[in-house]
Amino acid sequence: MESGYRKIEWAERNMKTLGRIREEFRREKPLEGYRIGMALHVEAKTAVLVKTLIEGGADVAITGCNPLSTQDDVANALRDMGIKCFARRGMSKEEYYEALNRVVDFKPDVIVDDGADLIFLLHGERLDCDVLGASEETTTGVMRLKAMEREGVLRFPVIAVNDAYTKFLFDNRYGTGQSTWDGIFRATNMLIAGKNVVIAGYGWCGRGIALRAKGLGANVIVTEVDEIRALEAVMDGFKVMPMRDACKFGDIFITATGNVNVIRGEHFKLMKDGAILANAGHFNVEISIPDLESMSVSKREIRRYMTEYDLGDKKIYLIAEGRLVNLVVGDGHPIEVMDMSFSDQALAIRYIVENHEKLENRVYRLPEELDRKVARLKLEVMGVEIDELTEEQVAYLSDWRHGT
Ligand code: ADE
Repeated sequence: MESGYRKIEWAERNMKTLGRIREEFRREKPLEGYRIGMALHVEAKTAVLVKTLIEGGADVAITGCNPLSTQDDVANALRDMGIKCFARRGMSKEEYYEALNRVVDFKPDVIVDDGADLIFLLHGERLDCDVLGASEETTTGVMRLKAMEREGVLRFPVIAVNDAYTKFLFDNRYGTGQSTWDGIFRATNMLIAGKNVVIAGYGWCGRGIALRAKGLGANVIVTEVDEIRALEAVMDGFKVMPMRDACKFGDIFITATGNVNVIRGEHFKLMKDGAILANAGHFNVEISIPDLESMSVSKREIRRYMTEYDLGDKKIYLIAEGRLVNLVVGDGHPIEVMDMSFSDQALAIRYIVENHEKLENRVYRLPEELDRKVARLKLEVMGVEIDELTEEQVAYLSDWRHGT
């Protein structure tokens, strides 16, 4: 528990943007009397968000959003502070859902979710709980929520924090870019230079992973289903090909698609001996573990968080049971990146509390002025100044009559 407190202190020291918002919350108490129910990766940066909400007057209950990502020392420190925290590392599926239910039992006014499992529960088994609104952290969660919105089944408004510029441009790209490699380094202890790295998906996460792979000296291959993203990957200097071809060359495979069975039996068959598989997407469905299991004669843990599957003619290595490599093996995204994402979260929660009556049961972006506020504060705490438009420039931009 002591180590949990120290991790939180280190994160707090480096989350200066959220620190500014925390000062506002301390003064203005915008969340006084509200209950906030959270399902997030319980680690040090998340604890700093929880402490910020409490400064704002909220009562908080939290659990994990993945059975393997909780850091127990941090969860224990939160409990020691008197916060209702139901997360524990290595929960079974039943225990995981039991913990989500305990957050619902707390009768939250606002939900903060990562992956939308908690929100999903409120649309099925737990219709007894009414909330004012929710915020969602991640791409996968937003995809699920937009599908619910399309089907007209959403019961409350949701802010897609993921879609804020100060979130996806930094967290998804530079955060995932660094933390995925951090997880792979820790799991494998291998050199990346000269390796063939196959990255499935060229969304913002895939781009970040590819960018850093290039910097590490890897030969990067991208697989995509979207023609525009594929074209971007080509012009960013990467080889693009279907997985049926890429699977023959890859030394390391990383999935970041949000989709199911992206790497499966037909690909395992063609892989090289020693191929390493990791997933950076929210759910452990991108690499087909059932196929891997059924094609193997045996398996064993060769290193912490790395399973060796013996397929008879070759061995394939799966990191972190195909779960989020950056959070299971590493500590999640770097602190300065989560500083922005969780500032967006804090402002989204305040926005829901203050504006829920005006909102429909839809998925909203974080209002642009709040997104820009986070960018401004971040620049300020980094000591970076920028220019302002002169009056002449403002006038020029609004004058459509000018030309050559
Ligand atoms: N730490 C807490 N939440 C996280 C997330 N969604 N991604 C990476 N690191 C995190």
